[in-house]
Amino acid sequence: MTPEQAESRIEALRKQLHRHNYDYYVRSEPTISDFEFDQLLKELQQLEASFPQFRDENSPSQRVGSDLNQEFESFPHRHPMLSLGNTYSKEELMDFDRRVRKSAGEDFAYFCELKYDGVAVSLTYEAGKLSRALTRGDGTRGDDVTRNIRTIRSIPLQLQGTGYPELFEIRGEVILPADVFEKLNRERKEKGEPLFANPRNAAAGTLKMQNASAVARRPLDCFFYYVPDAQEWCSTHHECLEKAQSWGFKIPPYHSIAGNMQEVFRYIDYWEKAREDLPFGIDGVVIKVDSIRLQQELGYTAKIPRWAISYKYKAARALTRLVSIDFQVGRTGVVTPVANLEPVQLAGTTVKRASLHNADQIRMLDVRIGDHVYVEKGGEIIPKIVGVAKEKRDSSVLPFSFITHCPECGTALERKEDEAAHYCPNLTGCPPQIKNRLEHFISRGAMDIHAAEATIELLFREGLVRNPADLYTLEFDAVVNLERFGEKSANKLLQSIAESKRVPFPRVLYALGIRYVGETVARKLAEAFGSMDNLMKAEIGELVDVDEIGERIAESVRSYFHDPENRKLIEDLKAHGLQFRMETQEKSAGNALEGKTFVISGVFEKFSRDELKTMIGQHGGRNTGSVTARTDYILAGSNMGPAKLEKAKELGISIISEDEFLSMIS
Ligand code: IVH
Repeated sequence: MTPEQAESRIEALRKQLHRHNYDYYVRSEPTISDFEFDQLLKELQQLEASFPQFRDENSPSQRVGSDLNQEFESFPHRHPMLSLGNTYSKEELMDFDRRVRKSAGEDFAYFCELKYDGVAVSLTYEAGKLSRALTRGDGTRGDDVTRNIRTIRSIPLQLQGTGYPELFEIRGEVILPADVFEKLNRERKEKGEPLFANPRNAAAGTLKMQNASAVARRPLDCFFYYVPDAQEWCSTHHECLEKAQSWGFKIPPYHSIAGNMQEVFRYIDYWEKAREDLPFGIDGVVIKVDSIRLQQELGYTAKIPRWAISYKYKAARALTRLVSIDFQVGRTGVVTPVANLEPVQLAGTTVKRASLHNADQIRMLDVRIGDHVYVEKGGEIIPKIVGVAKEKRDSSVLPFSFITHCPECGTALERKEDEAAHYCPNLTGCPPQIKNRLEHFISRGAMDIHAAEATIELLFREGLVRNPADLYTLEFDAVVNLERFGEKSANKLLQSIAESKRVPFPRVLYALGIRYVGETVARKLAEAFGSMDNLMKAEIGELVDVDEIGERIAESVRSYFHDPENRKLIEDLKAHGLQFRMETQEKSAGNALEGKTFVISGVFEKFSRDELKTMIGQHGGRNTGSVTARTDYILAGSNMGPAKLEKAKELGISIISEDEFLSMIS
């Protein structure tokens, strides 16, 4: 195939795939089978690989995202991203209507829309191609999340049809559908990772993930609701959304035109109930003046438009009796109170348990066993107790005092200054802490040892495993004699344990279960320090120099490595052959950068940021995230962050280019 032929085939395939994406993800009416789609995509990917000169970041093949880590640079919004006035009261809506009518001085219609509960984004298209996606940020500047946005399949990378403006900006809400959210949390629970409180937090967390291919695996969606320059090409908001829809944007069909406030209220009342059946979360409705000319006349205050308002639904609430309070002890010893309730119907489910957060919350609400309590379910999965019906309190109900000793091991609980939680300090002797730590250690994102919760329980009960290092001393004879174990299952378990010795260092670090050290933090620490030995020696100052590591994490890491029992555990794990250094560091390429600390900023031509980080490590240097007095060099590409540049100048740090860096190590 000649390059010319390839180019025209690539073009044709991209066009077809954009169309099929739109049919599938926006219109929900696919016209070809998944198999046929995959065949076309595969053909495109192969051609793009053979003819890299035709690479295009808006190609449908880019939906899978890249595995390279990214930083989010911030850019100014062309128009500020404003918020909306909001109310929970229909009287206040009437006031809004009166104000608008008075200023308008003519009859007009409202456009009623749902208020999607997600994360706002602003997308810019140039000549029909997606060029930039920004988050709201502080309203005037937002973070560039374009690479992650490209993975959302219902967002057009190339606009459809004709007539779209050369420069087109549109705003919408990135959401995580309810079923995806539930699945995600189920998986996180299995892996022992903290759960997302609600779909909005999950969507926000996903959009800011550094690895776009991980974003691509979470099916986000995006609904559009606002075009800043609409006056230039349409006369009503309704028309504007219809046009946007024809260019490929997803506009959910749940909107309605209202001629007066009665019709607005009808819309509000309808969706208050019907929202329970929507496949995504909403937290209210938005009422907008439909005429763009009137919108312009009404204008904006400093923060909000005068032509729109949101009416928010109160969270679903129920009244029931608090029967008892349980205390759960987690992996890190945190004691969490959980309320047992008389079962009550709430937003379509029966609620029997609710979270009470901590002792302060119980004291603040003055919750007592036997009280009638209000339970609320917002966007959250776990309902919470938000108040007490004091008028219903029986005189026999006694004030509640928080437990003073661990319900599991009897140790006196501790509480750190400025922290709300109580902890059981008996890390190595408190059974649920030990078991939860073991479960975390073997979980999928960590050592990935295939053992059921019941197996861990059994190994613990039989006294075979008290800490993670004991897993590596297990012998066939002991395992095969366990309840429900046979030769095959014993071998399988031992093999899986043996295989875990190859798990790379960042995951081993995560597996240790150091408080606040999740997968991302573990990876950052591992990359910055290169080995467990270096990390164990690191001072607070060196820890906080690492990108995204703050005081709280640094203190937690320091105190973990101070503890003699933890040091012993690490020695034992090391003796069993676990990976305690970054692989790339092993392939040392010299020590030209010995003792030098680098900060990388900007975009590079020859190597990716990850490759540069690896090279720094291979030559004995250290890579950190923020510019401090300890930084020796800033390795600067194009578009270096202005804050970093200023700080570097202030501290007199040498700023070197990619080429200068390469000559340092050559
Ligand atoms: S209109 C200039 N419409 O709510 C007005 N916003 O509380 C632009 N939101 O930042 C906003 N659904 O993130 C509008 N149908 C909808 C919306 C909506 C959700 C969000 C948006 C905005 C926030 C304001």
